[in-house]
Amino acid sequence: EIKIITVDGPSGVGKGTLSQSLANHFGFHLLDSGAIYRVLALYLIQNDEQDALEDEIVQFAQAMDVCFGSKTQKVQVLLSKQDVSELIRAEHVGTLASKIAALPKVREQLLQKQIDFAKLPGLVADGRDMGTVVFPKAFAKLFIDASSEARALRRVNQLKERGLSFNYHTVLDDIIQRDIRDRTRTIAPLVPAEDALVIDTTSLRIDEVFKKALNFVEG
Ligand code: CDP
Repeated sequence: EIKIITVDGPSGVGKGTLSQSLANHFGFHLLDSGAIYRVLALYLIQNDEQDALEDEIVQFAQAMDVCFGSKTQKVQVLLSKQDVSELIRAEHVGTLASKIAALPKVREQLLQKQIDFAKLPGLVADGRDMGTVVFPKAFAKLFIDASSEARALRRVNQLKERGLSFNYHTVLDDIIQRDIRDRTRTIAPLVPAEDALVIDTTSLRIDEVFKKALNFVEG
């Protein structure tokens, strides 16, 4: 039986770090579902189709040749055989990803690609609707939250580490916009699954979050 742990939550909450740690700890595979939305957004941008309509976007989703590999610990994303792992992290790609993620037919088209990640011995699935829509039968569901201010601060620091500088207020504004889109969309809105453990990480360190998550998963 494939064991599935889902990690859902809003933008910039540290799901990526937590999911990676859990996957390492249990020796499980990792699904960064946001990367799937990001790679589709990048594909549209590359084809100058950022304003495409829903049905057209679905066709691009069908046509795109995407492949997830892993070199050592890092997840590698290939689009048309090109390594786009860094390119998909750009802010404008994330913004378009968040917009196309609100389209029901686009979500449906990307569903199977996500389910296919479930392999033995297990999977840690990181996203917005992993516990509610994609893997409703997961054996352990986590929902990670934090205030929008704390998340904006973390994102600014993360961007700094990568040599990029962003204004805190611009980043905060973007997080708030993404929250609104994620929480109010009609399809798969961001809400904790009924059986999820909700962890508010506003005043927790990464290792404290990991400990709480581990206790829940192992308990
Ligand atoms: O956390 P952040 O918004 O920076 O990015 P992400 O997790 O890489 O996901 C990019 C966008 O895709 C998010 O803003 C969500 O709107 C959307 N998404 C989604 O709707 N469902 C998922 N399972 C994962 C991401």
